[in-house]
Amino acid sequence: MIHSITAVSSLKVIECCMGQCSWPCVCNWREETLMEDEVIHDLDSFECTDTVGGHLRFLKPKCDMVITAVRRGQAQVVRPDRQIILKKATANEKAFYEAEECASLESFLPMYYGCALVCTEFGNEDYLVLEDVALSNPVQCDVKLGFVQRAAHHSDAKWKSMRVKAAATTSAKVGFRHCGLTYCDWKSGIQVKEDKYAGQLVQAADLVSAFGKFFNQEPGRTWPLQGAFRKSVLKSISTIHALEGVIASLDGLRFWGASLLFMLDAEAIWNQDAACIEESLKIKLIDFGNAVFIGDGPDKEALCALTNLKSMLAAMLEKTTEVDPAFEVCRPDLCVQDAEQLKSMEGARMLASLLSPIHEKS
Ligand SMILES: Nc1ncnc2c1ncn2[C@@H]1O[C@H](COP(=O)(O)OP(=O)(O)O)[C@@H](O)[C@H]1O
Ligand SMILES: [Mg+2]
Repeated sequence: MIHSITAVSSLKVIECCMGQCSWPCVCNWREETLMEDEVIHDLDSFECTDTVGGHLRFLKPKCDMVITAVRRGQAQVVRPDRQIILKKATANEKAFYEAEECASLESFLPMYYGCALVCTEFGNEDYLVLEDVALSNPVQCDVKLGFVQRAAHHSDAKWKSMRVKAAATTSAKVGFRHCGLTYCDWKSGIQVKEDKYAGQLVQAADLVSAFGKFFNQEPGRTWPLQGAFRKSVLKSISTIHALEGVIASLDGLRFWGASLLFMLDAEAIWNQDAACIEESLKIKLIDFGNAVFIGDGPDKEALCALTNLKSMLAAMLEKTTEVDPAFEVCRPDLCVQDAEQLKSMEGARMLASLLSPIHEKS
């Protein structure tokens, strides 16, 4: 893929500023011609990582690996001391991370360095270079947002099957579902993983207990929630509240398919180190492969999902060993989002039909 190398060779290179300044980074840029091996990274230089909720391949650089990532036409050298993870790029997710409109979301997203080319069995593939928000030894909880999973590229059959899936899970009722989590299991002494398929079996009445496995990792999991875990739930509620404020100000952006990822440090949990547990809590919005700019106003479906998630967490604060408190649920007018999705599906089909003659010729 010589054209990729030529394209990158004239780019300005940013020496990573160690986070001293926010993007766009203004320190230390220089014009330089990059060598092929600085731009195209070998798959052997990475390890595949274990994730809780995803289906795409994630890569973690082996030690001492320098990555060249290109963001909005500028190349950036990402030094090995940066905690990064590479996710197979889709045009949509790349566009989301590079959109000016998403700047106000920055503190809720993993830091995005740009895209890097990785030479794989399928040729040179584009990977998003993202901050690895998981700690070295994390337990994670992936909460998939949305009353139904939507995407512009869905066929009519997929549109229907997604509604059947949403109705069978908690998505259709509360606007979110368990999409994989890990937790420290004191009985077995190991970290247990529940995948997204286990998550799809969770019913609305069991949500507090199901997510309680992540949010209460005290030995014996006693209720009511106490100490660092109680504080983590309170902090989660206030973070979600702040995120709602930003989403409410974003006109036309739809977070279809996005997840809210919660992380805690497993070592701090095993050590029962309350201060470290509390400090280690991270909450990030991830997965923008199906996010779109369409329609007017904010994403009311995502906002409603987040309000319900807050209510579920508030109910968790009231949970006792005997009683899982019910929580109030709001529902958006899904007709509006359904119409938006149909419009986006129509647009995607039109684009496909316009492009296919070109592909057929080449
Ligand atoms: N920036 C990140 N840092 C650390 N882990 C991540 C990051 N992004 C995603 N993950 C992990 O990968 C999983 C799937 O991520 P996601 O973006 O939803 O991928 P997919 O598009 O395949 O669903 C998450 O549940 C989490 O375990
Ligand atoms: Mg996902």
